[in-house]
Amino acid sequence: MRVVMPGGTGQIGMFIAGWLRSQGHTVQVIGRSVEDPALRWDGRTLGPWADAIDGADAVVNLAGRTVNCRYHWRNLNQMMNSRVESAMVLGEAIARAKHPPRVWLQASTATIYAHTFGEPHTEADGVLGSHTPGRPPYWTYSVNIARSWELAMRQADTPHTRRVAMRFGFAMSPDPGGIFDWLMWLVNRGLGGPFYGGQQYVSWIVDIDLARAIGLLLEADHVDGVVNLTAPEPVPNRDFMRALRHAAGVPVGIPVVPGMAELGALMLGTDVELMRKSRRVVPARLTQEGFAFEHPSWPDAAVDLVKRWRAGDRLSTAA
Ligand SMILES: NC(=O)c1ccc[n+]([C@@H]2O[C@H](COP(=O)([O-])OP(=O)(O)OC[C@H]3O[C@@H](n4cnc5c(N)ncnc54)[C@H](OP(=O)(O)O)[C@@H]3O)[C@@H](O)[C@H]2O)c1
Repeated sequence: MRVVMPGGTGQIGMFIAGWLRSQGHTVQVIGRSVEDPALRWDGRTLGPWADAIDGADAVVNLAGRTVNCRYHWRNLNQMMNSRVESAMVLGEAIARAKHPPRVWLQASTATIYAHTFGEPHTEADGVLGSHTPGRPPYWTYSVNIARSWELAMRQADTPHTRRVAMRFGFAMSPDPGGIFDWLMWLVNRGLGGPFYGGQQYVSWIVDIDLARAIGLLLEADHVDGVVNLTAPEPVPNRDFMRALRHAAGVPVGIPVVPGMAELGALMLGTDVELMRKSRRVVPARLTQEGFAFEHPSWPDAAVDLVKRWRAGDRLSTAA
């Protein structure tokens, strides 16, 4: 397959591209500063890059301003615009193609669902987020970004292309700069205790399962609409951090309490919403498709990830 991957220069793109290449596929990464001028774009306007879309077998769009930042209005606007505009212009390129790709897989996020400690969200029964009393109003903005992002894909005039919005949980890979790397940084400094009380659920997925799930979605001609790409066992943050400390062999983790969390997030240039929101999301559609996770449960996944993190064993360099 020839797979075109806008935003493939980021954390997920690097390991998906590595894995797809290791499976014998050709991957062309489109980005704002890729070497090949024929694959360079600005994420907003049509250009020569659109020629790569014509005749490709599949498009996997991962582009969007990083969410690992302070959630003030300027950054939230950039997060919104970079996602909606890149999905819209990609839709335009597909619509204009003489030979449109058979499938368009579009990044989305488990953040689209409501903050909950109750029943897990599935694609069919999940409740989309709205304002939760007692939570900051800007949390709703992150949900609106996800909704607008998916809408941009749904509204594209691409009748010959199957479309899937992939609602990713936290993608856990040993790559430098990814969320797992960041968690290991905390754990190794004794800061890997429960965050903000630790009751909030973490929806996560290991890189190899995310890559294999994308492999399934590329091939499964009957699957369209939204698909949750998360492991089947989301866990409360308290248990999540405990299992990670155990896997890393670090006995102590200072709990990160309110106040300390805000200060830490400010110093690290990130936002507490990423760790504080309770995301309890399960992959009902992947399960219906018979997808077998290599790492369905977090304690086992954490042990494997720590080993790979220490050995520098990454999918991004698998090909
Ligand atoms: N990683 C996770 O755990 C996770 C969880 C849920 C959802 N997601 C979503 O999945 C997608 C991929 O995740 P990721 O972790 O690989 O993200 P990432 O590392 O931040 O990479 C995203 C890519 O988007 C491109 N980009 C950045 N700003 C842009 C802009 N203003 N306009 C157009 N393109 C821009 C960048 O490529 P160039 O600089 O080459 O243009 C970047 O490499 C993201 O949209 C993210 O929100 C990720």
